[in-house]
Amino acid sequence: MKNIEMPKLERANFSSKLGVILATAGSAVGLGNVWRFPYMAGENGGAVFIIIYVVCVLFLGIPCMISEFIIGRHGQSNTARAFRKMAGGGPWSLIGYMGVLTGFLITGYYAVVAGWCLQYIWASLIGHMNGDPEYFKAYFAEFSSDPVKPIFWTVIILGITYLIIEHGVRDGIERASKLLMPTLFLLLLVIVGASCMLPGAEKGIEFLFKPDFTAINGDVFLAALGQAFYSLSIAMGCICTYASYFSKQTNLTKSAIQISVIDSFVAILAGLMIFPAAFSVGVNPDSGPSLIFITLPNVFQQAFAHMPAVGYVISLLFFLLLSLAALTSLMSLHEVSTAFFQEELATTRKKAALLVTVSTCVIGAFCSLSLGAAGHTLEFFNRTLFDWFDFVTGQVFLPIVGFLTCIFLGWFVPHKIVRDEFTNWGTLYGRYFHLYLFLVKYVCPICILFIFLHQFGLI
Ligand code: PHE
Repeated sequence: MKNIEMPKLERANFSSKLGVILATAGSAVGLGNVWRFPYMAGENGGAVFIIIYVVCVLFLGIPCMISEFIIGRHGQSNTARAFRKMAGGGPWSLIGYMGVLTGFLITGYYAVVAGWCLQYIWASLIGHMNGDPEYFKAYFAEFSSDPVKPIFWTVIILGITYLIIEHGVRDGIERASKLLMPTLFLLLLVIVGASCMLPGAEKGIEFLFKPDFTAINGDVFLAALGQAFYSLSIAMGCICTYASYFSKQTNLTKSAIQISVIDSFVAILAGLMIFPAAFSVGVNPDSGPSLIFITLPNVFQQAFAHMPAVGYVISLLFFLLLSLAALTSLMSLHEVSTAFFQEELATTRKKAALLVTVSTCVIGAFCSLSLGAAGHTLEFFNRTLFDWFDFVTGQVFLPIVGFLTCIFLGWFVPHKIVRDEFTNWGTLYGRYFHLYLFLVKYVCPICILFIFLHQFGLI
């Protein structure tokens, strides 16, 4: 073993391979898998879209994930410091700070949506998920613009996140992921089973998988690519922060592949949960918050109208599933800023986590108020504060951080460092190193640049 330059590992780390995979997959599997992927697949050519998506994940998502793994594990510190170490100071360090900022800003706004999921668990429990389509629409409109309720649930979900994060990497994040992720898979399988057994379910399965080559164009390709990055939690500091808890034995390539397989699998299963039920009652599913908070509760209720008890349970399990998916993603987002404040302010984990929880509660509260309760005071240039957070983080910061990370790692970091991390200091064969480097140097940055220019209508 050529282990001349192995870094010292005194830092907290995940205790097992399973911990690495489940925690990181927990970050990746989130609301994006349920509310965007299935719809995009159905609308954009079914099986053909899924193939394009998988190709994007393989050749673009995985290399970007490995790059963040390399920077995080090399740095053994929060994302900002990890970039600073890799860059030896200098302007490239700024990418790390941007990653942390992106993660921080997203935490507050993602928590608002996660909070909605909690409210819907509660509403399902007390039997409020009952009514006609108009009822569900009105319920959501009224609830999301309420000045108090959504903020209450945002604080609750961030409080739960705090309690997990405060317990540290092994006892908090890893333990919670080992419990939450298998529960999530189980719930998913139960709902997929129930949905696929409904009469007329095969039409939904056909919609999701039927290859339609005519639906494919450049837009679809860019949409698949954007979805792949978002779904894998790339460029938000999450992957980099978690990688700083990997051990020197963690096989980065293999882990990235396993995590991506889990993430894509969950996205496809989410399609099998949504479409068969929706088609069985003749409802056309859409995407985004209205899919999960308006359309689906109605679909589940109608689909199981002849067995109301099953409908009740499925609706409850569905929101439980969403909450778990959102919580594990929220943990990784929270950890980005917690690690940052803990190390940069040289304070305790508890204090850092509390600082992040309180400040993201404030951000979340303002985002939530901008959805109605505050009238137009939190609206700027025709966008609510909530939409601004979504737009700036997802469509501006994410591509910029992703692009610069590839350029930095592919062109500026000495290849020896990259190769050492990639091959675990020569202990792994590293057969794909040149392919990886080629993708990170040329293919990934060019494709990210395309998505960026495309979404601003420049190409
Ligand atoms: N990957 C998550 C999803 O699919 C979203 C997310 C993005 C989570 C960035 C954390 C960080 O919903």
